[in-house]
Amino acid sequence: MKVCVAGGAGYVGLVTGLGLAELGHRVVNVDVDQRRVDMLRQGRSPIHEAGIDAMLARNLAAGRIAFTADLHPAATEADCIFIAVGTPSRPDGQADLSQVIQVTESLAKPHAGYQVIVIKSTVPVGTAELMLNILKRQRDEGVDFDLVANPEFLREGQALYDFFYPDRVVIGSSSPRATGLVRDLYGDVMTGTGHWNVGAPTPAPRAVPVVETDLASAQMIKHAANAFLATRISFINEIAGICERVGADVGQVVRGIGYDKRIGHGYLSPGLGFGGPCLEKDLRALMRVATGNGFNPEVLSAVLARNDRQIESVIAKLKRQTGYLLYRKRIAVWGLAFKAGTNDVRSSLALRVVARLLEEGASVQAHDPVAMPEARAIYPDVTYRDDPYEACERADALLILTEWPQFKEPDLARLKALLAAPRIVDARNLLDTAKARAAGFDYTGVGRL
Ligand SMILES: NC(=O)c1ccc[n+]([C@@H]2O[C@H](COP(=O)([O-])OP(=O)(O)OC[C@H]3O[C@@H](n4cnc5c(N)ncnc54)[C@H](O)[C@@H]3O)[C@@H](O)[C@H]2O)c1
Repeated sequence: MKVCVAGGAGYVGLVTGLGLAELGHRVVNVDVDQRRVDMLRQGRSPIHEAGIDAMLARNLAAGRIAFTADLHPAATEADCIFIAVGTPSRPDGQADLSQVIQVTESLAKPHAGYQVIVIKSTVPVGTAELMLNILKRQRDEGVDFDLVANPEFLREGQALYDFFYPDRVVIGSSSPRATGLVRDLYGDVMTGTGHWNVGAPTPAPRAVPVVETDLASAQMIKHAANAFLATRISFINEIAGICERVGADVGQVVRGIGYDKRIGHGYLSPGLGFGGPCLEKDLRALMRVATGNGFNPEVLSAVLARNDRQIESVIAKLKRQTGYLLYRKRIAVWGLAFKAGTNDVRSSLALRVVARLLEEGASVQAHDPVAMPEARAIYPDVTYRDDPYEACERADALLILTEWPQFKEPDLARLKALLAAPRIVDARNLLDTAKARAAGFDYTGVGRL
């Protein structure tokens, strides 16, 4: 099929377009960011993801994917148009839908044949209905177009893997014709029998559950999924805080509760809280949907409040170690990306910690395996080091803020020799507590003995 992806140089749009091209469709990714479009045309991905460079090169060479800033020709010819533009938070927490509306209005022009328009961006319930109204001003629903809500659940760092091996696919639509077209589009992904080289072992073949719903429920599924994940993180951070006060170890607690099939081990890592481009913004947007419809989201409010306190708890631990005044202290920071495996620093809690350190007058020496250029653009006053050990030179303490696997087993003797004092605040519980303490470190994790 011919596919057009609006927002095609962004995280979700690029992964969607590349994935569909790899499946054999002819894809045009459209984006207003000309710099990113130019990079992609040259075969350079603006995002860091396992397997993405090879997939981009392969599909460019095969002529299955193209990149442009011009929506109209690509959108007019397409059988299916994906909208994967941003839906950032407004200051009051509501989702800013201006990008979605702008693209939808550009599509509301008559065209030759039947098209399916797919909203892939995460949007508050009611958005698809608003889009339908815009589209219906110039088109006939069911005759020359149908709208589908097909939310995205990819995890950054494993985005291509999640495209090809999703846990489920949600298709929200009132049109069997449109639902069928989207099913066909995903082809072998749905049967679970394909084999794609995405830098991770291929899972056992299995049919992917397809959840067919109405439009409103599809939009709600995405918000509910992210709110639930955020709830797990705030829950375990709360348990970690209690553990710290009563001499229990949250790691052991997670092991113990996770074997319960009703609970499971996933998304129970205590630490800095939930950051990144999705969980916090989507939680706030869902809360606004609730309050806007006369419902008080008490549980969700508590989830957010717990999250907002995590950074201060890490700063307090650092202050306890270094003597309460951070002014003129030199702090080494490992990790700037919002999570391991990505160069994305949007709403990165690691960067929020860096901002707090700078605010208190500390100097920061930082290292991240891939996200330093992105961090430098926001905090030019930080000293960035290509080597994690160099970042520790003469520092008063080391703060570990992103769970990169390469930080997991550092040469502790070397670290101790480089730091001005052997202090580590491990906000991701990456290091082995016993080893760090045996090596003479004043070591603090989150909820650990
Ligand atoms: N990043 C994730 O992990 C993730 C996962 C699931 C869902 N989502 C959701 O997917 C959506 C996109 O997120 P993202 O992280 O890919 O954002 P992004 O900022 O990386 O990408 C959005 C892209 O849209 C482009 N754009 C803006 N207006 C445009 C227009 N009028 N025409 C064409 N392109 C335009 C931007 O230039 C940008 O490249 C959001 O709703 C987000 O909540 C994101």
